[in-house]
Order: sequence, then structure tokens, then C-alpha cells
Amino acid sequence: MKLIINSLEEMKTLSSHLAHLASPDDVYLLKGDLGAGKTTFSQFFGQALGVNKTISSPTFTIIKSYSGRLPFHHMDCYRLEDSDEDLGFDDYFYGEGVTLVEWPQMIEEFLPPGYLTLTIERISDDSRQVTVEAHGAHYENLLEALTHEITPY
Ligand SMILES: Nc1ncnc2c1ncn2[C@@H]1O[C@H](COP(=O)(O)OP(=O)(O)OP(=O)(O)O)[C@@H](O)[C@H]1O
Ligand SMILES: [Mg+2]
Repeated sequence: MKLIINSLEEMKTLSSHLAHLASPDDVYLLKGDLGAGKTTFSQFFGQALGVNKTISSPTFTIIKSYSGRLPFHHMDCYRLEDSDEDLGFDDYFYGEGVTLVEWPQMIEEFLPPGYLTLTIERISDDSRQVTVEAHGAHYENLLEALTHEITPY
């Protein structure tokens, strides 16, 4: 699915729809260049999941966990730069929570077999193209449900 998002508000709407559909063990990969909007998407996602704390970029800590309707794990693997160090990723991916991964390209070997990928591309200051792709049966169903939630922007 490809969407054109024209404002922060529309990004929040997309993110909130996904947060409401999220179930335990879900893994969503966030791709896109520096400043594309991965952290922004994650902040909206966490808020919609019911996280009360401020969600800041995990660039320096790599992984931050929050509690909401489900545990929310927020990763930014940028600084791992293709390192093959396993930071115990499976505990997050196969736990009870939902995990959002910025820069998943850096931990390809540790990713689970199924996930949803969201690729965010900057069109202009406030506009983004978001491409959503499913890998695995569970995520095919999730993508279908998400598509139904979204009225064309
Ligand atoms: N529609 C939009 N969706 C997302 N971000 C937007 C949008 N419009 C403007 N922005 C702005 O773009 C910037 C995106 O920065 P953000 O930190 O989310 O990027 P990032 O993809 O996480 O970058 P990095 O790879 O450095 O972690 C923010 O300042 C945000 O306010
Ligand atoms: Mg970021």
C-alpha cells in the first residue's frame, strides 16, 4: 500500500490506526532517510498505544521500552552500523509487546521472519510518501485491516 501524507496530523492518524490494530509480538520496521519521520511516527504510535511518558529518540540508547495498552519497545539501530552484536533482540521481538525498529537494515540477521515494513520518503517539508509492505501471513492480514481503516487521504 502506498499513501501520500500531507501533514503531521495525517501521519498521526496513520500511526494511530496501526497502534489500535497492534497485537502482542508485532514487529514494525521503519525505513527512510535521516529526518524522514520515523521517530515522529513512533511518538504518535506510542501515544495512541497509551504511553504516558515522553517518547524521545532512542538513537543513543538503541532500545527504549514503555508501558501502554501493550508494552512498547522503540529501537533505533542506526548506531549499530552493521555490527553483528546481538543485544537480546529476541526478548523484544518474541515478548508480549509491540516493537518499532528504526534503521532495521543494521540488524537484518536478527529480524524475525514476519514483520510489517513502513518506508517513509520525504516529498516536501510536511508531505511524505509512506509505503507499507507485509511479510508473513499475520502481517498480510494486518495490512488488509489497516487498509480498511484508512479513508483515502
Ligand atoms: N508529515 C510528517 N510526518 C513526519 N514528520 C514530519 C512531517 N512533516 C514534518 N515532519 C518533521 O520532519 C522531522 C522528522 O524527524 P524524525 O526525527 O522523525 O526523523 P527520523 O526518520 O526519525 O530521522 P533519524 O533517521 O535521524 O532517526 C520532524 O521534525 C517532524 O516534525
Ligand atoms: Mg529517528
